[in-house]
Amino acid sequence: MTADRKPVAFGDMRGWIDALRAEGELKDINALVDWNVELGTIVRVAQGAGTGPALLFNNIKDYNGPNARSRRVFAGSMSNYRRMAMVFGMDPDTHPRELVKLARNIMASTIPPKIVETGPVKENILTGKDIDLFDFPTPLWNRADGGRYIGTYAGCVTKNPDTNVMNVGAYRGMIGDKNRIPIYMYRAQHIGHHALAWQQKGAKEMPIAYVIGWEPTLDFCSGSPVPMGVCEYDVMGAIRGTPVDLVKCESHDLYVPATAEIVIEGFLSFDPETYMQEGPFAEFTGYIAGERMPRPVVRVTAITHRNDAILRGTVEGALPKSYSENSMCSSIMRSAIAWNVLDRAGVPGVTDVWGPPVHGTMNLNVQIKQTYRNQAKQVANAIWGSSASHVRYKHVTVVDDDIDIHDYAAVDWAIAYRVNAGENDIVIMPSTFGAGLDPSTRKRDRNIALFGSGKWNRVLIDATINLDYDPDPDFGGNRYPPTVWPAQKDVDAVAARWQELGLGKWKPD
Ligand SMILES: Cc1cc2nc3c(=O)[nH]c(=O)nc-3n(C[C@H](O)[C@H](O)[C@H](O)COP(=O)(O)O)c2cc1C
Repeated sequence: MTADRKPVAFGDMRGWIDALRAEGELKDINALVDWNVELGTIVRVAQGAGTGPALLFNNIKDYNGPNARSRRVFAGSMSNYRRMAMVFGMDPDTHPRELVKLARNIMASTIPPKIVETGPVKENILTGKDIDLFDFPTPLWNRADGGRYIGTYAGCVTKNPDTNVMNVGAYRGMIGDKNRIPIYMYRAQHIGHHALAWQQKGAKEMPIAYVIGWEPTLDFCSGSPVPMGVCEYDVMGAIRGTPVDLVKCESHDLYVPATAEIVIEGFLSFDPETYMQEGPFAEFTGYIAGERMPRPVVRVTAITHRNDAILRGTVEGALPKSYSENSMCSSIMRSAIAWNVLDRAGVPGVTDVWGPPVHGTMNLNVQIKQTYRNQAKQVANAIWGSSASHVRYKHVTVVDDDIDIHDYAAVDWAIAYRVNAGENDIVIMPSTFGAGLDPSTRKRDRNIALFGSGKWNRVLIDATINLDYDPDPDFGGNRYPPTVWPAQKDVDAVAARWQELGLGKWKPD
């Protein structure tokens, strides 16, 4: 199936925008739009249930003058499976199930980046008094947000000081003032692992760089739990089929894409005295979350950007009928990652994995060919034991291979008739790590400053046929009775008479 794939290197975000425009997937918005709430509202309302276009805002209030450093905002390009297929170099009509299978493969592949001397991201280099984050048309995405979030769909680069392996993750960052960005990060995320490694070396702060706007693989990979020790740049290279060209930052030895739109360099301090108030933000759960409280701050030491830089951003939070870019991407890559986790753990018989986009794999469905008793428990244990489950996979439903996990009704039917809570089909794994932004948990348990992570009571719903039951001679030696669906020979017989009966075109289900 990967043979059908033709990897695409768009070159930069502008190349991606051009490709979207050519495919009719982009809307240019040339009317004046206010960065203050209006722009974010347009993005959210336009995104729909995986149906909205990518949006390029070309005329933003207060940022449309001749001297504006940056005039445009780009959002929404990943909120649709057609466009995700384009990123993978696949036919835009590829079914999400095939995208998951492909993502399994390419997200486990690597092509290391290439270091180059310079690139367009160095067209403007701002340091010292010239740094002013308010020069960029950062929206107040939502009226309830605690500030203007410049880091939404940005790749936050850090490195492990012992191995020098970099990590690129999406961690929200709010403009605190003209040169400070308080951020929201968990200690269980890779940025948190890096912070610990620097602290263990006695450092008071660590180098960091926000990359804002590059090819879509940056968006896709920075939100993905690529395994610890594997650099997201390598995975981006694998997806686009060619190495990512990286240039060295001005302030430290982190590396960023040479054709990025904007890079904000700085140092993240570990000293609570330096913390700034951050939050709340309209979050990925679809609720306003991450209460306002003091959080670690990036002290900005340089901004480099292209001429006429385009700010990449997104709205977070999926709701029924309104799927965010993160939730759409998550449904593909977090399903793929969960499947790879199961493979690595040696769980046999996994035939499909899917977390629907409305929650982006908060609930995960796993289809298996069951060959031994309680295999579903092995599935849940393997998933919850992996670091990839930190902010997802709260509820795992396991079904047999006759249940299509892309069909809500089929999964619901399996839960209705193959789950017996008195037979251990519902298992609660109490008090595990989890997303500190989930409103179903108590406020105290969402305090990541206190606990490092949220607190989830995870649930396995084993909706497979219980192999602990005895085979029954009345059921032809099976554990379950036959369904009401007629035998194939009876269906064939009525098929032969269907038109004669005046029932129209034969349409077996
Ligand atoms: C748009 C977007 C925003 C995100 N915001 C945050 C955030 O503010 N804090 C956080 O810890 N994770 C956030 N995430 C999730 C992480 O990016 C994700 O868990 C990723 O795996 C982190 O990278 P890592 O695995 O290298 O730690 C966000 C993801 C996306 C796509």
